[in-house]
Amino acid sequence: MDKLVIHGGKKLSGDVTVSGSKNASLPVFVSTILAPAEHEFSNVPFLRDINTTIKVMEQLGATIQGNGNVVRIDTRGIDKHEATYELVKTMRASVLVLGPLLSRFGKARVSLPGGCAIGARPINLHLKGLAAMGADISLSHGYVEAKAKKLQGARINFDISTVGGTEHLLMAAATAKGETILENAAREPEIVDLANVLIKMGARIEGAGTDTIRITGVSELGPVTHRMMPDRIEAGTFMIAAAITGGDVKIHNMQLEHLDALVFKLQDAGVEIINKDNVVRVKGPKKINAVNIKTRPYPGFPTDMQAQFMALMCLADGASVISENIFENRFMHVSELMRFGADITTEGNAATVKGVKKLSGAPVMATDLRASASLILAGLASDNTTEVSRIYHLDRGYEFIEKKLAGLGADIKRVQE
Ligand code: EPZ
Repeated sequence: MDKLVIHGGKKLSGDVTVSGSKNASLPVFVSTILAPAEHEFSNVPFLRDINTTIKVMEQLGATIQGNGNVVRIDTRGIDKHEATYELVKTMRASVLVLGPLLSRFGKARVSLPGGCAIGARPINLHLKGLAAMGADISLSHGYVEAKAKKLQGARINFDISTVGGTEHLLMAAATAKGETILENAAREPEIVDLANVLIKMGARIEGAGTDTIRITGVSELGPVTHRMMPDRIEAGTFMIAAAITGGDVKIHNMQLEHLDALVFKLQDAGVEIINKDNVVRVKGPKKINAVNIKTRPYPGFPTDMQAQFMALMCLADGASVISENIFENRFMHVSELMRFGADITTEGNAATVKGVKKLSGAPVMATDLRASASLILAGLASDNTTEVSRIYHLDRGYEFIEKKLAGLGADIKRVQE
């Protein structure tokens, strides 16, 4: 198993390029099930979760070819309608194949994903929506079995904002009979990227990026060529890497407008952010101000940036309160951050972080993807040596992170344990 060894205390500087978005690529790959054709995607990140999606698609009968960051998916040969537990348990987003398989074949059998380190993460709203579209759904032996001769358009009002649920029903509705209206839909930029792909395939979709999406089903969808949007969470992580080390970093291939909530909070913390000619320059402050955050669905502060922001607040001048409102167990980084000397107390979904003068490097363990990133950030800002183990979590979602950080002057190496 690999671990990262970081000798902290270097101010990061220079240029870094953000990769394509993991969380946009996963549903987009799955959406190709709906269109039996050859598709091509560029700016695809080289990640473990992408590999898992490819395996899921291959298991269904698709042919996939990769060349660097370009992936070609031929979905004409798909002849199976089942996603097994072995794959779904390694990546819950695989469950999104259910709707597209049901649309294409009238039946699908997909393993239930089960719990996850950051929360229970049920898929009840996905299933409720598919049932409203006429699917006959049953659960047996840990699998969801769904049947529908033809999915029918429906009006679906989500109880809570769900990214995966919105993506799932958006795909299922694209070739359903009649009109589907998704109300209280999630508004994340990844949903807009997915809708753009479906529209290029021939789908009729209006309102993606707002809380009401109208989809008029079409009888068939065709091939698509698409460049994936940049990964906003990777970009945000580099912004905090610059901020926490008092560095000066220029970030390329990012869409700053996707990170408004983070930008406002970083500015409140004293970070300077300059957006010029599509390059975002981030300068860390001498003194980090303490800032409170509450995670919310987009355009609110992203839960996927909470752990990294907490690392920054560990070194702030004063106390901040960080409230996690999306997942019920997303504070696992707290006890690891405390191993660096951070002063954090939690009560329910709120963590009070009292800034300390310095963090000191420590051996720590990654518990999930974004928690791993927060430990690296703390390591970069610490004196002495930090070892982050269990970094397989990190490899799910950050392309070449140690190489990119080393390119900015960080002393960081991947070694085998
Ligand atoms: C997506 O997960 C992302 N994953 C997550 O990123 C991200 O943290 C999350 O959205 C929130 O922004 C991908 O895009 C692959 P949700 P998703 O459905 O779609 C509850 C990362 O680090 N809920 O918006 O699974 C759920 O339990 C990952 O890259 C139900 O109750 O999240 C949660 O509390 C981690 N019933 C809330 O809604 C449902 O049927 C939001 O979850 C569906 C969701």
